[in-house]
Amino acid sequence: MKIITVLGARPQFIKAAPLSEELRKSHEELLVHTGQHYDYQMSDVFFEELGIPKPHYFLGVGSKQHGAQTGEMLKGVEEILLKEKPDWVLVYGDTNSTLAGALAAAKLHIPIAHVEAGLRSYNRQMPEEVNRVLTDHVSELLFCPSDQAVKNLSLEGLTRGVVRTGDVMADALFYHARRAEDRQPSAPKYLQKSYLLATVHRAENTDNPQRLEGILKAFAQIEGKIVLPLHPRTKKLLQDYHLTIPDNVEVIEPVGYLEMILLEKEAELILTDSGGVQKEAYLWQVPCVTLRDETEWVETVQTGWNTLAGAKMEEIISAVRCYRGKSLPPYQDNLYGNGRASEEIVAHMEKRG
Ligand code: UD1
Ligand code: UDP
Repeated sequence: MKIITVLGARPQFIKAAPLSEELRKSHEELLVHTGQHYDYQMSDVFFEELGIPKPHYFLGVGSKQHGAQTGEMLKGVEEILLKEKPDWVLVYGDTNSTLAGALAAAKLHIPIAHVEAGLRSYNRQMPEEVNRVLTDHVSELLFCPSDQAVKNLSLEGLTRGVVRTGDVMADALFYHARRAEDRQPSAPKYLQKSYLLATVHRAENTDNPQRLEGILKAFAQIEGKIVLPLHPRTKKLLQDYHLTIPDNVEVIEPVGYLEMILLEKEAELILTDSGGVQKEAYLWQVPCVTLRDETEWVETVQTGWNTLAGAKMEEIISAVRCYRGKSLPPYQDNLYGNGRASEEIVAHMEKRG
C-alpha cells in the first residue's frame, strides 16, 4: 500500500510515531507536514526523539486564521495527492491539519483512515469538534481509541469501517516509558521535589481573558510549586492581556515528549486542558484536574481519575483539594488498549487493501 499521512501539530507527531513505524515495516508511507506547528520545541524535537522520518513534503503554512490556514493546507495537500496517487490518506485527531487532509482526499475519492475517530465533546464552539465530526463523516476507516468513541459514531449513523483499536497515544507512552525513566538521573531539578504539572492552550481558555485569569488565580492559591511548560499560543496571549504568572508557577519552554511524560509521571497532580495530557495522566495513574467544562475522554472522569473543573478559581481549587484529601481510585487496565493499537490499525488497512 502507498499511504500519505497528513500531520502538522504537536500531538499528531506523537500519535504518528508508533503507527508510522509499524506501517513502514511493509508499506510505503509519505509524510506531509503542513507546518501548522513550526517552532523547534513544537515540531522538530518530536521527529528527532521519536525517530519519525523527515517529512517528504513540508507545506510551511504556519499560523493563520482558521479559514486561511485550512485553505492553504487543502490546496497544498491536493497537489501532492494528485501527484502521488496514494491508496490511502491517513489523518490523526482533530486539528485543522486533520480536516485539510481529509477534505483534500475526499474530493479526490481517495479513501481516508482516521485515527482517533469518534471523540465528541458535543461543543461545536470548539474548532476541534467541527474538525473531528467532518473528518469522521468522510472517512472509510474510523479507528476508535475507546468504547465510547464507537458509541458516539453509532449515534451519528456511522458503523461501517468503525473499529475499536485502542489508542495510539497509549502505544507511544508504553513504548517510550522506559526511555523516559532512564533519563531521570539527568532530569531537571523540579523532578527531585514535589510539584504539580500544568498545561494550558485550548482556545476556549486562551482566547478568553476571564477564563485565563481564573485559571491563573487558582494556580496562585494552590499550595506547592506548579511547573508549566508554556504553549506558544498561551505565551503570546498572556502578554497581550498583560496577565502575570503567579510566583509559585515555574514557566518553562514546551518540552520534548520524553521529558514531558517523565514530568507527568512524577507529578503529584496534573492540571490541564489538553486532550493528550488528560489521557497520559490516567495511564500514569496521576490524578488530573481538567480546566474545561467537558471532555472527550469521559472514561478518565468515570473512573474517578479526572475531575472537570472548568476555569473558575473556586472549582479548580476545590478539585485539587479533593484529590489531596482522599485515596486514589482503582485503576482500570486497557481503557485505551494494550499498547498494540498501531498493529491493529495496519492489519485493518491491509484487509481493506
Ligand atoms: C492546535 C490545534 C489544537 C491542538 C493544539 C495542540 C487546531 C484548530 N487546533 O492548537 O486542537 O490541541 O494544536 O498543541 O488545529 N504558535 C507558535 N509556534 C508554533 C505553533 C503555534 O508560536 O510552532 C502560536 C502562534 O501564535 C499561533 C498559535 O500558537 O497563532 C496557535 O497555533 P495553532 O496551530 O493555530 O493552534 P493551537 O492553539 O496550537
Ligand atoms: N507534550 C509535550 N511537551 C509539552 C506539552 C505536551 O511533549 O510541553 C505532549 C503531551 O505529552 C501529549 C501531547 O503533547 O503527548 C499533547 O499535545 P497538546 O496538549 O499540545 O494537544 P492536545 O492533546 O490537547 O490536542
